[in-house]
Amino acid sequence: MQFPRLDSKAILAPMAGITNLPFRILCRRYGAAAVFTEMASADALVMKSAKSFKFARTDLREKPIGLQLFGSNAVNLAEAAQMMQHDFDFVDINMGCSVAKVIKQGAGVYLMKDPDKAAKIILKVADSIDIPLTVKIRSGFDRINAAEIARIAEDNGAAAVTVHPRTAAQGFSGKADWSIIRQVKENVSIPVIGNGDIRDPYDAERMLKETGCDYVMVGRAAIGNPFIFMQINEYLDKGTFTEQKHPDRGSDFRRYLELVKSFDMISFNDIRVKAQQFTKYIDDSCRLRKLIGQQDNVRDIKKLMNTIV
Ligand SMILES: Cc1cc2nc3c(=O)[nH]c(=O)nc-3n(C[C@H](O)[C@H](O)[C@H](O)COP(=O)(O)O)c2cc1C
Repeated sequence: MQFPRLDSKAILAPMAGITNLPFRILCRRYGAAAVFTEMASADALVMKSAKSFKFARTDLREKPIGLQLFGSNAVNLAEAAQMMQHDFDFVDINMGCSVAKVIKQGAGVYLMKDPDKAAKIILKVADSIDIPLTVKIRSGFDRINAAEIARIAEDNGAAAVTVHPRTAAQGFSGKADWSIIRQVKENVSIPVIGNGDIRDPYDAERMLKETGCDYVMVGRAAIGNPFIFMQINEYLDKGTFTEQKHPDRGSDFRRYLELVKSFDMISFNDIRVKAQQFTKYIDDSCRLRKLIGQQDNVRDIKKLMNTIV
């Protein structure tokens, strides 16, 4: 199954606690080429855990959308993928997460330690679904083997591979080594999605040029800043891009709130944290964030967000 040709180049990264359904819709409105859910546990989905179904909630407005699954049990990963595929455009297996809780289960980047197991999982999941399968990897677990795992992914039915070129031990520290994305690109013929340290449209263009990757994936730079997708698209298209006016951050936050309400997904903590994130880079951001952190109701947070000039 082939990876679809996307309309633009920059994809929203899966980010637990950040990329919920309303946020993903905002990113798509600003031109993200595709989006991914936060990682959902395949084991929990198979056990019909209500919490995991929340992560897998989707809506037509966010298409193309990938469901990201984590787990280490090939049967459960395949069953979860098969069960959920109807609402999604692709399924992604998380072979990149380096969080202790995930690694302890033998999942995430831990799977890169065992290429045979990784191969079996990819084959089983790819064979169980009628939509493309993608795999998200790091440089490696304790040795760099991204190119080997990417090749294995392709040979076992993956339609695309995303590379975040840091090892498990690196976590998010140090610099992402983009030369590994290039190595992967040279080693496979499926589309390669490059990821890691894209902070602005210049970085996006540079990654595309330096690595030859087909798409780029943006994570942290999109937090509180879905507008970055429009900027990247403009820059790749015309060589210039629009700066977002600060009050428009407030408007984006209000749109986020409307979406949250429309999906009945109101969580005060999430709203407060998102408000703080949407103030990133604006003048007076520190003071505003602190004030937002002191609020205990949405109305007052909205009032503060309306003061952005
Ligand atoms: C808060 C947070 C949550 C994340 N959650 C996931 C996740 O659920 N699945 C995943 O594959 N990667 C996850 N990541 C990793 C990102 O998808 C991405 O690979 C990483 O942040 C590097 O890209 P960036 O430099 O653009 O942020 C997460 C990253 C952050 C910062």
